[in-house]
Amino acid sequence: MFEALPTSIQVFEVGPRDGLQNESAMVATADKIKLIQAIAEAGLKQIEITSFVSPKWIPQLADGATLAKELHLPPALGVQTSALVPNLKGYESAVQADLKQINLFMSASQSHSKKNINKTIEQALAAMAEVATVAKADGKRVRCYLSTVFACPYEGKIAADSVSAIVEKLLAMDIDEISLGDTIGAATPKEVFQMVKSLAKDVSLSALALHFHDTRGTALANVVAGLEAGVTIFDSSLGGLGGCPYAPGASGNLATEDLVFMLHGMGIKTGIDLEKLVDAGLLAQKILGKKLPGRYLMARLAEREQSMKATA
Ligand code: HMG
Ligand code: MG
Repeated sequence: MFEALPTSIQVFEVGPRDGLQNESAMVATADKIKLIQAIAEAGLKQIEITSFVSPKWIPQLADGATLAKELHLPPALGVQTSALVPNLKGYESAVQADLKQINLFMSASQSHSKKNINKTIEQALAAMAEVATVAKADGKRVRCYLSTVFACPYEGKIAADSVSAIVEKLLAMDIDEISLGDTIGAATPKEVFQMVKSLAKDVSLSALALHFHDTRGTALANVVAGLEAGVTIFDSSLGGLGGCPYAPGASGNLATEDLVFMLHGMGIKTGIDLEKLVDAGLLAQKILGKKLPGRYLMARLAEREQSMKATA
């Protein structure tokens, strides 16, 4: 173990989308922009800023078009912004917003697929193909999330064979990156390792990302299993915000600070400034008016408070 770890990895920040889609409070567009700016200042290069889905399904992100128009990140930061897109209508909004990358999504379980996008897996694959064809012709980079790859809140364990069959079909669409989602945070490290190793027979590891929710506390252990299996892209969310409103029990994503702290401790570079990330987490807490579940964030803020008291 730990003999062939990568020297650097890419962190894909999903907080402004996966995090805020699950908040009951409506966050003002201006506050979302400040949050994205703070995340970008911390050195995140991939930020999913919103989703272009039906506002009836996800009212929290109904301001996606305005947000994308008003967000101006300094080009020197080199950030690739992207948005979640379920269909051609969403794709058109992403084009209007001049996004260079779109993130499609579908599920490996029929029940979650129906609940989340009102489509069977077969209908979802057709929708993905429709958007991917247009997007690739337009020169966009296309990522696709595959949700519930380990377990579904309605069906329980998902067979690895059905996951690889879908992955194969997504690859045939010339999709650049597939993010495997443990939507309800039920995976354990050995399953992750085996799933990645088995997919790696057909997929280049550089095209695979892992997306963990920390519902049952296994997210970081699963990252280590993913690293061991050769994955170099990991999704996470500022402060551990997050969840899927159509997956009961899906609590927060793996917290970005926890991920970065662990990786830096293991000598793996991320290009992220952890102290600035904590500043962004503090800002998120102020905006949302509550404490976030990220463990490193909690610990570091307590240390900061302690040292302020000591110097007062
Ligand atoms: P539907 O009701 O079957 O769609 O929803 P429809 O085509 O019949 O359209 C219904 C209405 O929605 C129409 O408006 C459309 O114009 C509108 P109306 O005529 O009633 O006024 N509409 C749209 N509006 C804006 N943008 C669009 C769009 N498409 C249709 N793109 C649909 C189907 C896919 C739209 C819906 O089910 C939906 O929006 N679902 C999104 C659910 C969602 O965002 N879930 C959370 C994200 S997934 C997740 O969190 C997992 C992930 O993090 C990975 C993991 O953790 O595993 C990615
Ligand atoms: Mg998610």
